[in-house]
Amino acid sequence: ELGEHRHYMHKEIFEQPQAVIDTLEGRITQDQVLVSSFGPKAEQIFKTVEQIHIIACGTSYHAGMVTKYWMEDIIGLPCQVEVASEFRYRNPVILDNTLFVMISQSGETADTLAALHQINHYRKVHDLDGITSLSICNVAESSLTRDADMTYLTHAGPEIGVASTKSFTTQLVVLALLLTSLGKVQKRLSKERESMIAGGLQKLPNLIRMALEHEEEIRDISQLFADKQHALFLGRGTMFPIALEGALKLKEISYIHAEAYPAGELKHGPLALIDETMPVIAIAPLDDLLEKLKSNLQEVKARGGQMIVFEDERSDISSETSFKVVKATTNVGRITAPITYNILLQLLCYHVALIKGTDVDQPRNLAKSVTVE
Ligand code: M6R
Repeated sequence: ELGEHRHYMHKEIFEQPQAVIDTLEGRITQDQVLVSSFGPKAEQIFKTVEQIHIIACGTSYHAGMVTKYWMEDIIGLPCQVEVASEFRYRNPVILDNTLFVMISQSGETADTLAALHQINHYRKVHDLDGITSLSICNVAESSLTRDADMTYLTHAGPEIGVASTKSFTTQLVVLALLLTSLGKVQKRLSKERESMIAGGLQKLPNLIRMALEHEEEIRDISQLFADKQHALFLGRGTMFPIALEGALKLKEISYIHAEAYPAGELKHGPLALIDETMPVIAIAPLDDLLEKLKSNLQEVKARGGQMIVFEDERSDISSETSFKVVKATTNVGRITAPITYNILLQLLCYHVALIKGTDVDQPRNLAKSVTVE
């Protein structure tokens, strides 16, 4: 079943172009996203939505964090994101016309499921019919799909490795479809913009293939981690949640302690950690925030930190600051960039885990589906 792959995680990383194709199938045309793919009730519900509240755990939560940036930036819809275990044990004030988006690969995560039940209960008790829910899951007929008003499946196929890879990527694809559908129904998105997003999503399988071609280069860089116990990931904008996701993956499969920070927070504490032994992984796409990020990296350089920069082919941070560089593919847009850069981080974490000799597919103390809190 593994074919040429040593681990399921590796196989699943390489299945991502196909997983994206399968997730888009029948849901998108050349220049449009089909709102009807969200089900018969969707258009009516989407019309009345005034804010989004995303609830999830772990990697699925990171997909939600990326979405918050997209929702507010691209269609101007207020969006908050919260981990399920926090949401369920506080007394949230929920406004009418909130769309709750529950994200879960398994659809069985105890905290996410309990949060959904709480939302359903709140709606009943407060008589707020405008509160609605959408579950984004990879497993059809899972508990989360049964109890939500709408369900949308990621067609990632079975994910065996405990580390979430292709499910994260396909969650982001679905979230981009949701964003576009909401924007369209509420007239917050021009036809041109919709067509650009649809075009970008169609290019995604290829962009992912191009990212996967960097594997050897990334494997060489992973040697740097052979004797490391700590690492720091930095990013700004949507690359901050991608940095968080990189840090989670590194912890989970290589047992290296990793933290992620928005690069602008460096001076507020983590800069004290930097010395010549500290690897710092920076995600540096060619975007409006690049100049800001560069000055953060200069600060790391001045303290001798070992920098690994993932940058665009067209930028040249390497000559100014960096230690090791991976030049990523060009033409990555607002939606496709976080997805593409994350692929590079998946490869890095996988190869570091190989060097550390851990059980990549079954990391200690973890389960694929967290059905108890
Ligand atoms: O099945 P879910 O998406 O609800 O799972 C949530 C987390 O347990 C999961 O994403 C976890 O963080 C992954 N193992 C990370 O790779």
